[in-house]
Order: sequence, then C-alpha cells, then structure tokens
Amino acid sequence: MQPQDRILERLARVRDPELGATIVELGMVGAVRVTGRVAHVEVALTTASCPLRSDIERDVREAVLELEDIDEIEVTMGVLDPAAKASLMRTARALAQARAPQTSIPRRAPVFMIASGKGGVGKSSISANVAIALAKTGLRVGVLDADIWGFSLARLLDITGDVEVRGAKMIPLERSVGAGSVALLSMGHLADEKQALLWRGLMVQKAVAQFIEDADWSQVDVMVIDTPPGTGDIVMTLARLLPHMGQVVVTTPSKAAQHVAARAADFASKSHIRLLGVIENMSGFACECGKVHAPLGVGGGRELAQELGVELLAKIPLRGDVADGGDDGLPVAWHEDGEGPFQELARRLMGLAPSLIPVGCTARLLDALDHAVTEA
Ligand SMILES: Nc1ncnc2c1ncn2[C@@H]1O[C@H](COP(=O)(O)OP(=O)(O)OP(=O)(O)O)[C@@H](O)[C@H]1O
Ligand SMILES: [Mg+2]
Repeated sequence: MQPQDRILERLARVRDPELGATIVELGMVGAVRVTGRVAHVEVALTTASCPLRSDIERDVREAVLELEDIDEIEVTMGVLDPAAKASLMRTARALAQARAPQTSIPRRAPVFMIASGKGGVGKSSISANVAIALAKTGLRVGVLDADIWGFSLARLLDITGDVEVRGAKMIPLERSVGAGSVALLSMGHLADEKQALLWRGLMVQKAVAQFIEDADWSQVDVMVIDTPPGTGDIVMTLARLLPHMGQVVVTTPSKAAQHVAARAADFASKSHIRLLGVIENMSGFACECGKVHAPLGVGGGRELAQELGVELLAKIPLRGDVADGGDDGLPVAWHEDGEGPFQELARRLMGLAPSLIPVGCTARLLDALDHAVTEA
C-alpha cells in the first residue's frame, strides 16, 4: 500500500464530532503527500471559525503520527468551497437519516417542526391551527406537543383523556376534524402541570424520545410538532430522531423578535434539518375603524426570510379570535373557510412536503435546499 493510502486509511478514523461522520466520508480531506518521513495533509472545514477546528487538527495529527514511517505531519486547515460544502451537507444529512432510529411515522408522512428561538410568538397557536387546517382537507394529522414543561396543545385542541397503551405503544388521542382527524400526544395527557415542572434534563429528552419511539404514529399522513422556545435539549433530540423533518421558524414583525427567532434557523443548519420557511405571526391588526394597526412593527418576517434565503410562508394577523379560539379549545381554523391564513399556510406546507420525503427527493429540490443552507 502506498504511504498516501495508509495515511488516508488513518484519516478515515477521524470523525467530525458535530457532523457525526468521518472527515473522509464528508469530503473534508484534500491533498495528501509524503516527503521522506513527513506527511502533508490538507483538511477543509465548513467555516474558518469552526469551533472544532483544533480538535479535528489534533485528531488528524494523532491518527497519522501513529504510522511507523511518519515522524512529522504538516496539517493545512482550509475552508470548503460552496459546492463542496453543499455536497458535505448532503452527505451529512443522508448519514443522519440512515442512522436515525426507525419510528412508526410512515416514510411518506412529512414532519413539520414549528420552532422559534423566542417564546410567546405563537408557535403553539400556529401548530394547533395548522393541524386543524390540514385535517379539514381530509388528512390524518399527528400532533406532537414537544413542549414538555409548557405543554398547551391538549387545551388548545381540546383533546383530553388518558392515553391508551396497546402492544407497548402509546396511542395518540384522536379527534375527528372535518374529513380528517387530529391525533395528539402531549405531556398534558400524562402529567399535571406541577409534575411536569419537576422534569429535568435527561428525563425530558427521554419523554420526547418516548413520544416518538414508543408511540404508534403509523396511521398519520402528516406530523406537526410544537416545540418549546429556543434550541435546547428537546429540539436537539427531535433533530436526532427525525432528521428528515422540516423546520418552520415563527417570528413576530418586530426586529428584536426576528433576531432571536433566527437562532432556531441557525440550529437547523447546524443539525442538518431542512429549514422550510418563516411564518410571521401577529402581523397587522385590522381595526373596526377601517385601518390596519401594526403594534408589533412591520416586515420582520419578510426580512428574516430574506436573510435566511427561504420563503415567507404566511403572515398571520393579530386577531382576537386566535387567542379566544385557544381558550375555547376551538382553534380559529376550525371555522375558517378555504381562504383563511391557516388554510393557505397548510397548502403551502403540503406544497413543500415532497422535499421532506426521504426517498425520491429530486436533485432540483436538494440543490435548492443546499443553496439555502450554504447561504445561511
Ligand atoms: N395571531 C394572533 N393573534 C392574537 N393572539 C395571538 C396570535 N397568535 C398567538 N396569540 C396569543 O399569544 C399568546 C402566545 O401564543 P402561543 O402560546 O401560541 O405562543 P408560543 O410561541 O407557543 O409560546 P411559548 O413560547 O410560551 O410556547 C397566546 O395567548 C395566544 O393566544
Ligand atoms: Mg407554546
């Protein structure tokens, strides 16, 4: 075996801890040369400021210096060009999907995660309403309330009761909605609010994992996941278990919200889940006086979408009936006709669904997604 090949063999043991694959698999190794007993190795990172830079460099050195005929190594750290970065993201995503545990969620069912770096922007209200709007089109919609401490969907959707366990699997509680149905699992079904507050760290991750792995979602056509604010353990567990899901970021029109909301998008790019678009909630309020007031500002959603290189999927106005519907367990989308903002949002999301199905993705869609990722 040539010295270069032996070096490559060693490098194939060095993993990028963040991407969870070897630097060879990920195409991060450039030229490898040997002069005498000195190895020269080029390694390209996704960004120059990669926080794992020194770890990777150290691991490369150690791996190569184990070879008996190499005394020294010169490592040149560079940055991948956009095309190589897009290809790396594709590989990382495919590897994450291949390694993801099997769940009962059918492969053909798109999974939409509603997230935001910011609290109180309307994630739960949107999850509830979009689930209703999707169900009204005849779909069986699975809803996972992944907000373990701050669960609210049992109340918002008025789906309460005890969860049945059949064949060691939890059966989500189902409610008929128009031609379809909504099936929900929430901590609200398993614990009272005081108990939920006592849950911490690992237990929380375990609860989310159980809602996915130990529940029977086999009947759903589409999944909607409501998340707590931020990018903590819960969202990370979701990304690990459901790497093929698409994330939608919710923001209000204000600039401050936009910046905090964007952290969720940053998370999507780091964990290789697809960022589908932005929803601006609490946009202008249509007053009886005939004017549209904008108490929370204007344009935050569009700006965030532009910044992230994705679509602005919906602008949901500030409306009293959105809040009232939550209190009554009758989300406003229940009464909305086909033209309401949540129906429109449901249509847009289903339009993006083909990009989330693990098999049969077209190259064109992948390219568009990779473009969004590399621009982020
Ligand atoms: N478009 C809207 N018009 C009027 N009120 C709204 C709208 N969207 C959400 N609300 C209200 O704003 C409050 C916060 O909404 P919601 O609980 O859905 O936000 P959240 O992002 O899920 O919050 P958290 O981060 O705490 O989980 C609720 O009282 C809800 O009824
Ligand atoms: Mg919420």
